[in-house]
Amino acid sequence: MSKLVVCNWKMNGSIQLVDSCVSAMAYLPNDVALRNLVIAMPDIFLAYANSMEPRFKLAAQDCSVYGGSGAHTGEVSADMLMGVGVKYVILGHSERRSRGEDTELIHAKLASAVRCGITAILCVSDDYESQITEQIEGLLQAHHDDVILAYEPVSAIGTGRLPGVGDIQRVAACLRRRYVISKVMYGGSVTSANALNILKMDEISGVLVGGASLKVDEVSAILAAASQCMSYST
Ligand code: PGA
Repeated sequence: MSKLVVCNWKMNGSIQLVDSCVSAMAYLPNDVALRNLVIAMPDIFLAYANSMEPRFKLAAQDCSVYGGSGAHTGEVSADMLMGVGVKYVILGHSERRSRGEDTELIHAKLASAVRCGITAILCVSDDYESQITEQIEGLLQAHHDDVILAYEPVSAIGTGRLPGVGDIQRVAACLRRRYVISKVMYGGSVTSANALNILKMDEISGVLVGGASLKVDEVSAILAAASQCMSYST
């Protein structure tokens, strides 16, 4: 089983950072490492990144509830994202939930993404039972191959305070079993120093990396850990 490394740049990055990633990717040990990498950058850089390195797996950090195109000022649809090579979209991140995005809106965005064929990375925290409403659970059941759950405890995001390995394992196993989902990732203060310990857990299909993903050296080291872990699970 491959282990994904999803870089969440949040509202950071620049054309220069895209260029640095493109150059660094040329030095990756093999194509497997590149296949494990997903970069979620602000929408304005996506088309450029896709044109510079079509092998990049790109992610958006949000998508509209509306499909296609239309009179929706400021919105970007999942169809438009697909048009510039986007394969994944992060939804339900706690930074968006804390600014008022509720489960109903997240459900509508999730429906829009899966309808389009974009893989959704749905973030949930320790509060996952209330975040995964019946409606969302219905979508997970119907599209379990098109949704990845990302367990991101709020207390670990940007703080350097990770839960214990046993806790991560327990929650990931619980999410997999309860929602019959095949991929569960972990996110929150992942760096090259702890990535191997997290990625080698059988229940974990990848990591969602925030702060450390802005440093090319860190990303390369985390990718090396991911490649190493593929052998743990085969
Ligand atoms: P962090 O962020 O790695 O900086 O803790 C993770 C996230 O918010 O997805």
